[in-house]
Amino acid sequence: MKVIIINGPNLNLLGKREPSIYGSESFEDYFNYLKEKFPSIDLDYFQSNVEGELINKLQEVGFTYNGILLNAAAYTHTSIGIGDAVKAITTPVIEVHISNTMAREEFRHQSYISPNASGVILGFGLKSYELALQSFLL
Ligand code: DQA
Repeated sequence: MKVIIINGPNLNLLGKREPSIYGSESFEDYFNYLKEKFPSIDLDYFQSNVEGELINKLQEVGFTYNGILLNAAAYTHTSIGIGDAVKAITTPVIEVHISNTMAREEFRHQSYISPNASGVILGFGLKSYELALQSFLL
């Protein structure tokens, strides 16, 4: 089973960025933990701060992979292009957020991903990714 985690802007700064909201662990360390925890899943990781690169990656993997965990970060709330890409591809996309976006500023309540996601997991810290991955094994 092939699954990719796609992270959007500023998530390369996890561990350093607003640790009270996003925690103090880097995503690279957490990704290594996930690979060990889910040996039956062939897990890839891609991060970009550039909207078009996220769309290119969704198109590249979105007809062959078994699953995508997408944390589009701030683009979640602004990007019709990423929302359209999620709609266009056939691989199921789970929208993931570290923080509970619904408990934060109102502009974070809007998502262009959710209408076409197969599920949404938010608010569990980095564990949100783990919970999303588990859904592929149920
Ligand atoms: C985020 C929530 C977004 O609102 C924010 O812009 C991010 C991270 C999260 O994982 O909690 O960069 O997607």
